Amino acid sequence: MDKLYIFDTTLRDGEQVPGCQLNTVEKIEVAKSLEALGVDIIEAGFPISSPGDFNSVVEISKAVTWPTICALTRSVEKDIDVAAQALQYAKKKRIHTGIGTSDYHILYKFNSTQEEILQRAIAAVKYAKKYVEDVEFYAEDAGRTDNEYLARVVEAVIKAGATVVNIPDTTGYCLPTDYATKIKYLYEHVNGIQNAIISTHCHNDLGMATANTLAGVMNGARQVEVTINGIGERAGNTALEEIVMILNSHKELNVQTNINTRKITSISRMVSSLMNMPVQPNKAIVGRNAFAHSSGIHQDGVLKNRESYEIIDPKDVGIDENSIVLTARSGRAALKHRLQMLGVELKDSKRLDEIYEEFLKLADRKKDINDNDLLLLAGKERAANQ
Ligand code: KIV
Ligand code: ZN
Repeated sequence: MDKLYIFDTTLRDGEQVPGCQLNTVEKIEVAKSLEALGVDIIEAGFPISSPGDFNSVVEISKAVTWPTICALTRSVEKDIDVAAQALQYAKKKRIHTGIGTSDYHILYKFNSTQEEILQRAIAAVKYAKKYVEDVEFYAEDAGRTDNEYLARVVEAVIKAGATVVNIPDTTGYCLPTDYATKIKYLYEHVNGIQNAIISTHCHNDLGMATANTLAGVMNGARQVEVTINGIGERAGNTALEEIVMILNSHKELNVQTNINTRKITSISRMVSSLMNMPVQPNKAIVGRNAFAHSSGIHQDGVLKNRESYEIIDPKDVGIDENSIVLTARSGRAALKHRLQMLGVELKDSKRLDEIYEEFLKLADRKKDINDNDLLLLAGKERAANQ
């Protein structure tokens, strides 16, 4: 199996979201949990952006041992100087520098030319190399960059010493087939590409971040840039938990990560609460309903064999068990199962039918049926069992 490096940017791209800002102590708490989760690289911040960000990169570098600590910069010498200073205590360090390569960036943001941007990219990588061995280059808006020019940039920065080259779909515009073709094109056209790791960094504006990341991996990318719960600018970034569980569920892809999946739910809840960012109930892997079954047909199937309607064992992501939610759409099997869990044994199927009738009337009136409601409905049997 090939190793896929997990680069977590919850504390940089994720933390840029308005209302999600964390203080240094909270960032250290998240960084230590990311370390325990098994991420390979933690992007700890953008040190030139504020003294608070600078300080967080310093403190995270001191607090964390195993993952590489990464700091973001623009292709500007001062940014790189400050990032190198912020990383001084990191046991393993990386500078992540880069520049916009699409025409939107070259013409409108920089009022420049492709040639000039290429030279600035090379110069930034060479400058960062003076401080650290591990330099990652990002070609911002690579998703909308012409592949031929992108290949020239990638080749040049690898030649200048970049160890990782990041191909961001900054605006979340690419279709999975476009992103797949882009990565494939780079592997086919860039001399020396084997000397660097190609990284994905996909945004979710059209809901395709995970699909695009997977397309990148299936075409040779061996680092993915992700965040917990998919938080990030606008519609967010690729969710770490989604890409990791896809690879865990599809072993035929032959790619593995170092993530301890049993810690996924706890870190998801921690990030959601620290960042004041609720997780949508139907969010894949970490949403409240991700392992909840509410319709009668599904409940019956799951009670007979979990795998009829579950492709992931909830225990694999740190949840004790799936939940069978009792609603007006639940069937007798689910009701009987829940009553048994509550210690209520019914003497025959006629009695189950009676309680089920009462249960349906109640469920029509009340959205959530709780255990107390069920115990009241099964009053007689409870008394008999006691
Ligand atoms: O989305 C993006 O292009 C970025 C880069 C700065 C890596 O976040
Ligand atoms: Zn981004």
